[in-house]
Amino acid sequence: MSRPDYDFSSPEAIAAVVEEQVAHLRETIGSDRVICALSGGVDSAVTATLLHKAIGDQLTCIFVDHGLMRKDEPAQIEAVFRDQFKMDLVHLDREDRYLGLLAGVTDPEEKRKIIGGEFWKIFFEEAEKLDGVKFLAQGTIYPDIIETGTEGTEHVKYHHNVVPFPEGVHFELVEPVKYFYKDEVRKVGAYLGLPDHIVWRQPFPGPGLGVRVVGALTKEKLDILREADAIVREEIAAWDTQRSVWQYFCILVDVQCTGTEDGKRTYARPVVIRAIRSTNAMTADVAELPYELLTKLSTRIVAEVEGVNRVTYDVTPKPPATIEWE
Ligand code: XMP
Repeated sequence: MSRPDYDFSSPEAIAAVVEEQVAHLRETIGSDRVICALSGGVDSAVTATLLHKAIGDQLTCIFVDHGLMRKDEPAQIEAVFRDQFKMDLVHLDREDRYLGLLAGVTDPEEKRKIIGGEFWKIFFEEAEKLDGVKFLAQGTIYPDIIETGTEGTEHVKYHHNVVPFPEGVHFELVEPVKYFYKDEVRKVGAYLGLPDHIVWRQPFPGPGLGVRVVGALTKEKLDILREADAIVREEIAAWDTQRSVWQYFCILVDVQCTGTEDGKRTYARPVVIRAIRSTNAMTADVAELPYELLTKLSTRIVAEVEGVNRVTYDVTPKPPATIEWE
């Protein structure tokens, strides 16, 4: 599947690409209804915003809040899609359901299975409540489509081929950004008026902080991680104005350690900071953050985040380590 020739070289050119997509979406969808899952990521955000421009209230967005997002992200999704764009947004707060299902689960793959499986269950439960939905919108982008041409045939494999439609349920897929590369998706997102924190959002695992709290999840651990992570993101973003660091975030490991505060012994948690440079996440180098920045991060985290008495910096490239800890 070869992609059409697009021109993203100027604001006028981007506007023309957008108008072409919008016209195509209107023609494909007609007067039918579309549902779209919002994850907070740029691909699904641009998908939803293009569709909303094309078909307005015929689009319903579903945001399954699993309680594993970063600090303030659910509120930001509300602010952008409901308040700014006036989209029909169904926000499902399922934190308790997820915490219950994940209680005591320590195996990373098991966590991923539970988080992903439950997502689709909740999504389709909700979708079935809406009448007359014909299409399901997906934020597939061009690199998601792996092409392996063999002689005489063109074999195209979709990453996402795997929307696990429940028995008897089917929607047609609509994928308005499937021929765009990531930088092009970002250009379209910026053109459509999406805020920088969405346009420039770093890769973030679908299972969210569920795979950044090592071991069993609890609300207390997730809240500690959210606070520490918010400090790391704020400080590194202020330093990395050229966005040269690919990903930076915190991990909470499943141990406690000894510290001292006001002459008394503490027994609390260590937090790990990870910051890497990469071009495609297949390999990664450790970002050489200045020592003063690391000191500032450490000082702020132990002072501001209750339950943390130690901060470490992960200095391992990929390979041999992966980017995420789980
Ligand atoms: P690793 O840890 O394998 O990560 O070096 C490579 C890239 O993929 C992201 N990642 C995920 N993304 N679901 C996702 O959508 C996942 O389960 C997942 N695990 C890792 C990771 O953040 C990095 O950018």
